[in-house]
Amino acid sequence: MNGLTIRAILADKPVDRELEVHGWVRTRRDSGGLSFLAVSDGSALACLQVVLERDLPGYDRMVKQLTTGCAVRCRGILVRSPAKGQEVELRASGVEILGAADPAAYPLQKKRHSFGFLRTIPHLRPRTNALAAVARVRSTLSFAIHAFFRQRDFFLVHTPLITTSDCEGAGEIFTVTSLEPDQLGGPDPFASDFFGRRAGLTVSGQLQAEIYAMALGRVYTFGPTFRAENSNTSRHLAEFWMVEPEMAFCDLAGAMDLAEELVRELAGTTLAECAPEIDLFDRFVARGLRRRLEAVQERAFARMSYTAAVQALQESGREFTCPVTWGMDLQAEHERFLCEEITRGPVIVTDYPRQIKPFYMRGNDDGRTVAAMDILVPGVGELVGGSQREERHDLLRVKMEEAGLDLESYGWYLDLRRFGSAPHSGFGLGFERLVQFVTGMANIRDVIPFPRTPGSAPC
Ligand code: 4AD
Ligand code: MG
Repeated sequence: MNGLTIRAILADKPVDRELEVHGWVRTRRDSGGLSFLAVSDGSALACLQVVLERDLPGYDRMVKQLTTGCAVRCRGILVRSPAKGQEVELRASGVEILGAADPAAYPLQKKRHSFGFLRTIPHLRPRTNALAAVARVRSTLSFAIHAFFRQRDFFLVHTPLITTSDCEGAGEIFTVTSLEPDQLGGPDPFASDFFGRRAGLTVSGQLQAEIYAMALGRVYTFGPTFRAENSNTSRHLAEFWMVEPEMAFCDLAGAMDLAEELVRELAGTTLAECAPEIDLFDRFVARGLRRRLEAVQERAFARMSYTAAVQALQESGREFTCPVTWGMDLQAEHERFLCEEITRGPVIVTDYPRQIKPFYMRGNDDGRTVAAMDILVPGVGELVGGSQREERHDLLRVKMEEAGLDLESYGWYLDLRRFGSAPHSGFGLGFERLVQFVTGMANIRDVIPFPRTPGSAPC
């Protein structure tokens, strides 16, 4: 590791010290016998200004290559900057080009590029201000999520990525096989496959998290999940990350409180730890973002039942593409209208009809609804989905039969209700949707380093 990051230099401002800095030139400006380089090393949004006297040894040879995107090593003394725009600058005593970036070919020349264009160069787009800012926010939020659960006595459980169960029962599983395509015929080709039965990539770590919640009390898993869902929208990915806490001795209200606390705390963390990034998004991506995040941090979320939400949508006078009736799954247009126009902020919707929710959700006494909850947020829609789990053996068994599950292969799940069953609850928070929410980025493909969507998996 070489020297200080630009982030550390700009924070600590060790003036009069001789420093060595590595980074990529963002811009070069020549004026009055001096060249001014804006150098970024990715550690912060801000660049370090490096000032070169043009009679610096080797300058004439070097200048042609000292262009946007080239990698440099700069040595010099850090001084207080006499000009506006930066507090400190590096007076260069030596600059070395480590890797040139031919201006005729390097695609990132303009100040601003469309996100659509940047998606065509996934190997270069993290060098832009916006995508680098997203990457730093993502990293900050990841650590904050682990800290949040650790402070509350949760244990991290690494649930499997390859699994033989379909948690959501939606048939969106990517099959994992070691068979060759020509071996895939016949009535049960997977019997001779690697695991002796059909296996796939996990859609959720919940069922396995439940096993550990029944042993360790409070657990969470935070990892990639996969869905072969053919939705080409701005909020769906085929590979996305999910945070899934699971708590024994906890009812739906407990899960809702925890989820709200998590989202509000993470809004606060982003404001506190990623202030320059939030300013950038506020200016160029989503006006008013900072104010909205402050409101999320400060104000309790609205809460209403699905039945009340359906009524509010019906009475709103708004014409939806898909009219709202009790019993249907709420569509994106309804979710957005609910939190953007009716509650004007995040809302927790509870007690959905049982027929639109997975088998594991606990039945309510009315026989029609389940103890489910979704958190809907402006700009994104569904951010969190969770429930109290059905802990009553016989009722769960009936629901599993209704869902057409093979009771033998889910015997372990029923066993959790045979031996020391207890009320328990949990939820899943879509990590990319969270990053969208706190950055205001409109398209989910721009908040994950390498998006996987139908027909697209570059790099
Ligand atoms: O509502 P979902 O499907 O819930 C579950 O998978 C539960 N097993 C979670 C649990 O209770 N442990 O997904 C949870 C969240 C959604 O609210 C959404 O934020 C995100 O995961 N999500 C997606 N994010 C990106 N692309 C997709 N295709 C997503 N599908 C769900
Ligand atoms: Mg859901």
